[in-house]
Amino acid sequence: MAREQWTSKLGFILAAAGSAVGLGNIWRFSYVVGTEGGAAFILIYLAIVFLIGYPLLTTEIAIGRVTQRNPVGAFKKLAEGTPWWLVGALGVLTGFVILSFYSVIAGWSVAYTVKALQGFSADADFVGMFVGHITHPTIPIYWHFGFMLVNILIIGAGVVNGIQRVAKTMMPLLFILLLGLVVRGLTLPGSGAGVAFMLTPDLSEVTGQTFLRAIGQAFFTLSLGMGALITYGSYLSRKDNVADSAAWVVGLDTGIALIAGLAIFPTLFALNIPPDSGVGLAFMVLPSAFSVMPGGIVFGTMFFALLSVAALTSSISLLEVVVAWITDEKGWPRWKASFILGGLIFLLGVPAVMGYSTLSHINIAGMDILDTYDFLASDIFLPLGGLLTAIFAAHVWKTKNAVSEINDPKGKIVFGGWYGPLVGVVIPVAVGVVMIYGLYSKFFL
Ligand code: PHE
Repeated sequence: MAREQWTSKLGFILAAAGSAVGLGNIWRFSYVVGTEGGAAFILIYLAIVFLIGYPLLTTEIAIGRVTQRNPVGAFKKLAEGTPWWLVGALGVLTGFVILSFYSVIAGWSVAYTVKALQGFSADADFVGMFVGHITHPTIPIYWHFGFMLVNILIIGAGVVNGIQRVAKTMMPLLFILLLGLVVRGLTLPGSGAGVAFMLTPDLSEVTGQTFLRAIGQAFFTLSLGMGALITYGSYLSRKDNVADSAAWVVGLDTGIALIAGLAIFPTLFALNIPPDSGVGLAFMVLPSAFSVMPGGIVFGTMFFALLSVAALTSSISLLEVVVAWITDEKGWPRWKASFILGGLIFLLGVPAVMGYSTLSHINIAGMDILDTYDFLASDIFLPLGGLLTAIFAAHVWKTKNAVSEINDPKGKIVFGGWYGPLVGVVIPVAVGVVMIYGLYSKFFL
């Protein structure tokens, strides 16, 4: 059977941006910026996105396109008979872990769509509402189950095109709604402190852990370091320009994160919610914005519905990595792979849900179960996968081959002589140092 291909360059950009733009831009970005101290963190994150994220994103797409394989198969094809395929395997494992908790948060988001439809009353206790939701022993498990089921059905059917069409209309809508929230937030009394929080860096807050979390956030939001872009790149036509498409994905993803920050932080300061409230931040802040907004029911419902759709276009890319691996490498039928692997991912997510209820006594180095999954996968596995992919591209696949795959065959040179030193030396060293120092300062300082 011929390998499926995106119908156009735009199709690829939308699918890849659909993977990148998700809960990472709104839920994770706001909560990590809040706990890591604001503007200084954002600056470090932006530097990492452009100096490390963009070149690596481009590299992953190129590896996928040249091999036309899932991550494990891609490394096998470019370096036969070596252990490099383990980097692809790490990616598959990472996708598995990320999706298990991602689906839990997406489930919260779907549940909040229903709550928004009933209307948020202005004097409600939004912190209590959120805590009440996540600590319920069963309800969040049902939402998690429902969300995984939708993923399984979409990936099982292989309707990349169906979801692509959805993403095309939903993404611009989400963007417009976010802009509306920015205006709403900025016009609340006391919101200026939120803007200052995002724009005035306080360097005394910066530690080794700040850099580690910034790398983790950059990789997470760009879907980087676990082969999602290798997999999507493997469906990209030879005619399309890799460097250009990658620039679009990075630009859209970063822009949406910053706008989400502007929608959340001013509102939060106006409402006196502490920025370091953790994983529930967006779910506590946004409903209160809707509760005092004219047409809040309509906008609130649309917002959480769109957030759920954005989550869906990301989560299917996570499931696609796992499923592409087992269908390519082990010859499983797509449906069987989706159901079995999706089912296992659901099960792995259950303890993450229960970490807020039945298992709330479990605490691992100050983190609950969901936090632990997130930390392990996003702050350790993703950067490690990215570091190894960078070394691989420059030294095993070779700079010359990578660069010629990335640049336009018609001669437009975007990636030049700097690629080898940057991707082969600077990025691995920088990521490696940050990982070692960040882990040391998290656990020993
Ligand atoms: N980038 C997605 C988001 O921001 C999450 C994701 C991570 C998707 C890794 C695929 C791979 O929500």
